Amino acid sequence: MDGLDVTACERCPELCVSRSRIVNGVGPADADLLFVGEGPGANEDEQGEPFVGRSGTVLDDALRDAGLARGDVRITNCVRCRPPENRDPTTGELNNCREYLETEIERLDPELIVTMGKVPSEHLLERSVGVTTEAGDLFDVRVGESSYRLLVSVHPAATLYDRSQRETFETAIARAAEVAGVGDSESGQSRLGDY
Ligand code: URA
Repeated sequence: MDGLDVTACERCPELCVSRSRIVNGVGPADADLLFVGEGPGANEDEQGEPFVGRSGTVLDDALRDAGLARGDVRITNCVRCRPPENRDPTTGELNNCREYLETEIERLDPELIVTMGKVPSEHLLERSVGVTTEAGDLFDVRVGESSYRLLVSVHPAATLYDRSQRETFETAIARAAEVAGVGDSESGQSRLGDY
């Protein structure tokens, strides 16, 4: 790993074949908010950046509504290589990539981690998660030597299949901005102590 980027990796034989490139996280290396998705899709694999397809547009819109720009936050995924046919990453693949995610979290040291969807929420909380019912809820997770605050959200793609998830997603993102003390809710100060 070079800084926050993985430059070469051969840990997952199938993903080495299915990927065009490794898709690293984007955004400032000192961002207060870290958004974690599942893994790159076709657009991300092509462009080398997380959340640049339709899900990315939904995320960008929700960030804008919360008074944030994409460039204000860091966005990454549980796995950095596109699984074939957009299948979910396997447990083995998630575990192979976990060290990279943990290193990114530790180096970034964000105020708040936002997990978007079931896969990243369950991966980091290490339990089963009902993302619709738990969206907007805050938890503590241990990564390495430190503890981090984590807010669960539905995945932005869920809003494309089910319009009713749109509000759930937007509310979770607005709450994340408020908790981290950034965007429209800007107080210059994290409100983590209030939650
Ligand atoms: N979905 C994800 O979980 N991650 C991306 O980067 C794009 C779509």
